[in-house]
Amino acid sequence: MAQEQPLQDPVAAATAAAAPPSEEELSSIEARQVKLQKPLPASIISPEKLEYAQGVIAKDKAIKPFWVNKYKNEAAKNWDRFYKRNETRFYKDRHWIEREFSIFSSSSTAAEGEEETKINCLEIGCGVGNFIFPVLDLNKRLFMYACDFAPHAIELVKQHEDYPQGRCSAFVCDLTKDPLTDTIPAGSLDIVSSIFVLSAIPAEKLEAAVRNIKEVMKPGGMICFRDYAVYDAAQVKFSSNPGRMLDTNLYVRQDGTMSHFFSVEQMTELFEREGFRVEECGYVHRETINRAMDLSLDRRFLQAKFIKL
Ligand SMILES: C[S@@+](CC[C@H](N)C(=O)[O-])C[C@H]1O[C@@H](n2cnc3c(N)ncnc32)[C@H](O)[C@@H]1O
Repeated sequence: MAQEQPLQDPVAAATAAAAPPSEEELSSIEARQVKLQKPLPASIISPEKLEYAQGVIAKDKAIKPFWVNKYKNEAAKNWDRFYKRNETRFYKDRHWIEREFSIFSSSSTAAEGEEETKINCLEIGCGVGNFIFPVLDLNKRLFMYACDFAPHAIELVKQHEDYPQGRCSAFVCDLTKDPLTDTIPAGSLDIVSSIFVLSAIPAEKLEAAVRNIKEVMKPGGMICFRDYAVYDAAQVKFSSNPGRMLDTNLYVRQDGTMSHFFSVEQMTELFEREGFRVEECGYVHRETINRAMDLSLDRRFLQAKFIKL
C-alpha cells in the first residue's frame, strides 16, 4: 500500500487498498496459483469470506449514468492529474517480475553459437516506469516500448536517470483509440506486459485495446498479465461505501481514476475471442499485513499468460 495515503480515514484506506501493495512494508503470504478453476477455490477465498463479499457487493448500487459517463470520458485527464500530484512517489518498483514472468529473464540465455538477438517488448500503461526500469535491468537484450495515456507519466519516464537511450522508447498513447502501429511496426513484438492497466479501462473498451495490442505482436508472442481480481479486499471496501460503483465490478477512486475487478472467465473469454491461446490464467491470493495500522487485507489478483495465435 502506498505510504502517502491518509490511512487514518477508513474510506481513504479503502481506496488506497486499490493500489498495488508495497513489497517492502507488508509481510505477505502468497497462495498457490490456481489455473482455470471456477468458482473461486477455497485456497483463494474461504466460503465464509466469499459469502460476506458477495453479500456486500450485491447490495451496492451504481451511481447515476451522468457521473459514470463523466468518469469514463475523463479517464486520461484524471490519470494525468494523478501523476502531476504524485509524480514518482506512489507506486513501488515491481521486483517480482522474474519470479512471476520468467520469460523476461529466461529469454536472456542464448544457446551456444546462437546470436544474441534483441527481444522487443511493450509495457502498456507504463505509468512512471515501475515495471520497465527493473525489467530493463534484468535482461540487457530487451528493448522496451512503453506507453501511457497520461503525458505527465511519460515525461517522468523520459526524465528518469535510468532511462536508457537506445533501449527504451516511451510515448503517449490511449490504447483504446490510438493505433500502436503509429509507433511500433506491426507484428514485431515478442512480449507485452499488462500490469494493473486493463483494470483502468471500462469493459466496453477492452476489446479495442486488446485488438490494438495484438496488431503489434508477433504470432507466438506473449502477453504477461497481472491485475485486480473479483473479491479483492479493495472491491469489498469500495462496495462497503456508497457512491463508488460505476458498473458491474467497476469502481471509481476518490481521485476519479477507475478500477475494474476481473474473473478468470471474463479474461479467458476476451482473449480467446480476440485470437489468443490462454497458456495460464488463475487467481493469486496474498494476505498483506500493514503492521503500522494493524490491518490485514486479502488481496486477490488475476495472473495470466496469453499467446497470440
Ligand atoms: C495502476 S497504473 C499501473 C502503472 C504501471 N503499469 C505499473 O505497474 O506501475 C495504471 C496505468 O494505466 C494507464 N492507463 C489507463 N488507461 C489507459 C489507456 N486507455 N491507455 C493507456 N494507458 C492507460 C494509467 O495512466 C496508469 O498509468
